[in-house]
Amino acid sequence: MAHAPELRIAHRLDEVGFSDIVQIRNKVMALRTSGQKVHALHGGEPYFETPDAIKYAAIEALVRNQTHYAPSSGIAPLREALAAKVNATNRIPVTVDHIIATVGGSQALYAAFQSVLDPGDDALVFSPYWTPIGDLVRGAQARPLLVPTSSARRNGITATLEQFSTPQTRAIYYNTPQNPSGVVFTRAEAEEVAAFAQARNLVVIADEAYEDLVYDGQHFSIASLPGMAERTITCFTFSKSFAMTGWRGGYAVAQEPFMTALRKIVLYSTNGVPTPVQFAMLAALETPESEHAARLVEYRKRRDLLVAGLNAAGLVCDPPAGAFYAFPNVESIHRISKTAAEILLDKAHIATIPGSVFGAQGEGHLRFGYALPIPEIEAAVEALHRFLKP
Ligand SMILES: Cc1ncc(COP(=O)(O)O)c(C=O)c1O
Repeated sequence: MAHAPELRIAHRLDEVGFSDIVQIRNKVMALRTSGQKVHALHGGEPYFETPDAIKYAAIEALVRNQTHYAPSSGIAPLREALAAKVNATNRIPVTVDHIIATVGGSQALYAAFQSVLDPGDDALVFSPYWTPIGDLVRGAQARPLLVPTSSARRNGITATLEQFSTPQTRAIYYNTPQNPSGVVFTRAEAEEVAAFAQARNLVVIADEAYEDLVYDGQHFSIASLPGMAERTITCFTFSKSFAMTGWRGGYAVAQEPFMTALRKIVLYSTNGVPTPVQFAMLAALETPESEHAARLVEYRKRRDLLVAGLNAAGLVCDPPAGAFYAFPNVESIHRISKTAAEILLDKAHIATIPGSVFGAQGEGHLRFGYALPIPEIEAAVEALHRFLKP
């Protein structure tokens, strides 16, 4: 009998993990099902619902039978509107040819890493980092090289990037505002990263999922710097800015040869974003600036409330400059963040994410999400205080 091949999955998935965050979500659901009240600070979803104007745009698209195949890179009016937004707001010089609609920021990032990395390559990743990034890099059979953000900011970005790079380094993942730390890189820091990328001929994969959530300082797109648009793939999402996490709307901005690569990956994975969702994205882009500004005020209130509560309970936490997470040191609960998260969940019914899932540099911390209704933050702070300062 001929030798049968082994029944197995492709080796490229050997090093790819399955989100620890999902396991925490499952535990929270199990606690709730058993009738327990849980303070849910583990999530990353906006506190408000998708605005009605966006929902009606999708409904109208359905009624108009906009239910057919669309160009896989996105319908023309959406790409035109995105190009206008990226030029005006992000100051990245683009035409419609530099825009591709994606299924959330996640597909943009997946396509970006797949477009740039070969097996054996390395990618510099500021750490702590959003957990899926490690898996996206490893899924491209490349290696994430973790660059501690806090020491880079303290000791110099260029020197730190130099210290961690290898001859195989091909890309830098640059997330601002950062999940989970809330760090917002300054323009001067972006300039240093850009100069390093140019000197080493690296591609920058920029993740600007939280571009509209900056409380201190200003959001700055690295691709807007001279010489950077041609070596940067910038990934955006509608999830956070418009409370559209379940719609799966995002987009990437890049020049050639990267755009052709992104187009191939989108074509052969999803063949584009669902057509009615694209009309919803188009409507979202008409949101007046005043609405974003009003929400930012709301988010700031939540941030200040949670940060004050954490510090009062003895968990030292500086106010994060952006995004919607606080990332305090919790070594007073337990040195190992997974254990600290378990203790908080079991004893105080507060769900958080252990810092170690965001890379070794996150150990000793917990991520508390504050994109919640104010009474829920108040109740969580009270529960924390009762547990830590009885
Ligand atoms: C840093 C960062 N980038 C990208 C995303 C992708 O979001 P989505 O796939 O919902 O657009 C997220 C979502 O949590 C994120 O935190």
